[in-house]
Amino acid sequence: MNHYAVFGYPIQHSLSPRIHEQFGRELGIPLTYERRAVPAGSLAQAVQAFIAEGGRGANVTVPLKTEAYALATELTLRARRAQAVNTLSFEDGVIRGDNTDGEGLLADLAYHAVALSGARLLVMGAGGAAQGIIGPLLDAGVAHVTVWNRTASRAAEWIARVGDARMSLPVAGDSYDIVLNATAASLGHAVPPVPDDVFRGALAYDLAYGPVARPFLAHARTHGAQSVLDGLGMLIEQAATAFCVWHGVRPDTSGVRVLLRGEAA
Ligand code: ATR
Repeated sequence: MNHYAVFGYPIQHSLSPRIHEQFGRELGIPLTYERRAVPAGSLAQAVQAFIAEGGRGANVTVPLKTEAYALATELTLRARRAQAVNTLSFEDGVIRGDNTDGEGLLADLAYHAVALSGARLLVMGAGGAAQGIIGPLLDAGVAHVTVWNRTASRAAEWIARVGDARMSLPVAGDSYDIVLNATAASLGHAVPPVPDDVFRGALAYDLAYGPVARPFLAHARTHGAQSVLDGLGMLIEQAATAFCVWHGVRPDTSGVRVLLRGEAA
């Protein structure tokens, strides 16, 4: 039996075990998948302990994605680009870091028939979550990405680092097709203090999922969002890509979508 885990803090509400176990059942691949509460600063010990127990791979979530990036001894191209890691594989002393978040977001937007080509985006946040999705969004042919961050200087530094002419800081009065909340605000039950008019006519999407995403999505609706989505679909799709990294086959996600929609609501 192969052992997997998700590391993060807090972690008790993570749906990743349900998702991976269900994929395994559907594809006839036996596996165990557990949650491990790992506070910031202690990922290295947690990984070493898990490897010693025979662990084959792990997902990594808030607040550990940058730590996982630093810990990996090999990085895939998409992890290097994201400068953040959400999927670790352990084999022959190698800790390989990958990032499936961007692909997960794109797959979920495609599932909901949201067009990215030519779209004007507002990305809120400039941390690991935002960095994890920007490369695939730019590759998908978006027209423009405005970056809003609570600490504006961090957004400016990130834009300069990425070096794509389609990214810029907010300009008052701009309108957007998609507003993505990639901040950690929802986890603290807060709504980022963006101007109310950014939501008008847009799809509002919170990378967080379940009850914690509700205040942001309700706020977006109140201020004119045309539609809203939480990050459950992204979670399921990034898990499907991580599953493929570990087991070589990408599961169909429709069964898990139906199974979990009720639970996360
Ligand atoms: P992550 O890897 O989850 O992105 P991070 O690198 O710590 O974590 O980044 C957290 C992001 O959420 C940052 O963009 C942060 O804004 P700052 O750069 O100003 O710290 C943002 N954030 C966290 N709490 C927030 C809140 N209550 N309102 C708005 N933004 C918040």
